[in-house]
Amino acid sequence: MKHTNPYNKKSPWPTVDAMRQIYEMKLWGAGESQFYSGEGSHNPSIVMPYLQAIISLFKSLENPPVVCDFGCGDFNVAKRLVQHTKKYIAVDIVPELIDHNKQAFQNEKLAFYCLDISKDDLPTGDCAILRQVLQHLSNAEVKAILNKLTHFKYIILTEHIPTGDFTPNKDIISGQGIRLKKQSGLDILAPPFEFNVKGKKELVAHHLENGKGMIVTTLYEPL
Ligand SMILES: C[S@@+](CC[C@H](N)C(=O)[O-])C[C@H]1O[C@@H](n2cnc3c(N)ncnc32)[C@H](O)[C@@H]1O
Repeated sequence: MKHTNPYNKKSPWPTVDAMRQIYEMKLWGAGESQFYSGEGSHNPSIVMPYLQAIISLFKSLENPPVVCDFGCGDFNVAKRLVQHTKKYIAVDIVPELIDHNKQAFQNEKLAFYCLDISKDDLPTGDCAILRQVLQHLSNAEVKAILNKLTHFKYIILTEHIPTGDFTPNKDIISGQGIRLKKQSGLDILAPPFEFNVKGKKELVAHHLENGKGMIVTTLYEPL
């Protein structure tokens, strides 16, 4: 079913409709599977160093972590993390995507839930993963999500940001695009978020060609 905007042209779509349309119209590209979460989820030169960094982090912990993956997408990346965890809870806002993932990826450690992470109560665990999710969301939604992440021991955040200096956290309407088009990117430590952490460590950065910015994964330990 195709989705057209039933709302006033100037008012944003509900995020669920925007994300659903992205998958239906393949606005992040297409692959072999029915759902495709974009190049950042499939390009081996982006995915492999990320997986290496996260698996080595999990192995360095005393026990395999309970992981909550918020905005799990097509699960092409995370499918390789499940075996290194105690439990892997994968969440996305698009119901059809979650139904598909439940069929495609089955493991006793793995559970899928359809939730809007800015509005719904979230499952809990040791480690929250948000990989190229917040970059697509408005500041109001980012703020609501961050408020619910404070009890996690670790937050692993992956964001597509400009290279070099930039003005952080320019607001956007939630959807396909990211702050890069405004020469901005997300920094959860900067206003208006000022997320409190006791630790921050960059785990991996991938520089894209032709000034298209970089995809950076950072480990935060909330205060
Ligand atoms: C670019 S994809 C990234 C997918 C995956 N994390 C990865 O790196 O392969 C962003 C995902 O976030 C999901 N998403 C966006 N807003 C969300 C929300 N409010 N609640 C739950 N999921 C959301 C989208 O449906 C989409 O699947």
